[in-house]
Amino acid sequence: MTAPALARTSDDLIKAEEPVLAHNYHPLPVVVARAEGTWVEDVEGRRYLDMLAGYSALNFGHRHPALVEAAHRQLDRLTLTSRAFHNDQLAGFAGRLAALTGLDMVLPMNTGAEAVESGIKVARKWAYDVKGVPADRATIVVAAENFHGRTTTIVSFSTDETARSGFGPFAPGFRIVPYDDLAALEEAVDETTAAVLIEPIQGEAGVIIPNDGYLTAVRELTRRKGCLFIADEIQSGLGRTGRTLAVEHEDVVPDMLLLGKALGGGIVPVSAVVARREVLGVLHPGEHGSTFGGNPLAAAVGTAVIELLETGEFQQRAAELGVVLRDGLGELVGRGVLGFRARGLWAGVDIDPAIGTGREVSERLMREGVLVKDTHGSTIRLAPPLTVTAEELRSALAALERVLGS
Ligand SMILES: Cc1ncc(COP(=O)(O)O)c(C=O)c1O
Repeated sequence: MTAPALARTSDDLIKAEEPVLAHNYHPLPVVVARAEGTWVEDVEGRRYLDMLAGYSALNFGHRHPALVEAAHRQLDRLTLTSRAFHNDQLAGFAGRLAALTGLDMVLPMNTGAEAVESGIKVARKWAYDVKGVPADRATIVVAAENFHGRTTTIVSFSTDETARSGFGPFAPGFRIVPYDDLAALEEAVDETTAAVLIEPIQGEAGVIIPNDGYLTAVRELTRRKGCLFIADEIQSGLGRTGRTLAVEHEDVVPDMLLLGKALGGGIVPVSAVVARREVLGVLHPGEHGSTFGGNPLAAAVGTAVIELLETGEFQQRAAELGVVLRDGLGELVGRGVLGFRARGLWAGVDIDPAIGTGREVSERLMREGVLVKDTHGSTIRLAPPLTVTAEELRSALAALERVLGS
């Protein structure tokens, strides 16, 4: 029997996916084969500026040398033990992550959704064991337009019909209030409430930034009402907004932080629940776990990520280059851009629907050598690696200007 000819071109590879891959994504028609820093290269050798950065999983760029080196070093020594045994990487990772975030304890997991699920479990356990909520009555208050992942429990409290429809029955125990609405939050939180779970900036919703003072008020309200404040910083965290965490813009420390994406340096899936000792301390052996969570390869790469963040360099770059991004987008308002929201190196840009959908603009940008992703309707999201240079950023903005035909 002869082996089938190897598919080589982008077109061949895209066609080859169709019958064998679930159709749960609608990727741009680009097939990436190599990448370094801010740049990716397709199978034909065309180069693109990556202005999505793996939805912020690549905050340090593709294959950052320090992260690749940490991975290689660990690959040559030990990759997996399971938590049945200790490994020599985990204590350092957890200690440094706790120190970086100003919290006490870490529960290592793998994907973002797993961190969210784990955070929900910990909050419920805390509500029963510490707050004294009657068994199975705990509620969690969340925000409309949230995005916390794709599991059945998490889509139960999504307000996005595409994410939910067809996946019921849904998990009870969640109350949804409008984002950035303190009065609604005040009303929804009661004696059954284990936690308020929000994104400090709503990424998938289009980089929605709440009014100044919202996070401070959520902190005050949750403290006053005796429930936990859980900040999902899986997309907003680890340098993206110009600070290590987006909650730092208001000097707020939540009771529990959910981290993922960039924590794995774009190399391995690494996520974590990070919390105060009184909160994570509610878990006992056997009550929660993950075969891969806290594996030594993940811990080694995660530690190298934390070392990069400890320098402060990436947060500073995001803050400084964020000004270039904001200024550049400002010049496009009224010239194809209706408006935008930006913090650090992260922006949601509302395109004039007369010019095209977010998808169409993303496709045109791709042909100009810039990769972005649309979110809802006519919004595109820009989130380049924090290693991007001012020149690269300006060239991406110039491509956007060309595409908008202004
Ligand atoms: C805020 C937030 N939480 C959770 C998730 C889910 O992460 P994952 O896709 O790794 O499960 C995402 C992913 O986009 C996210 O943006």
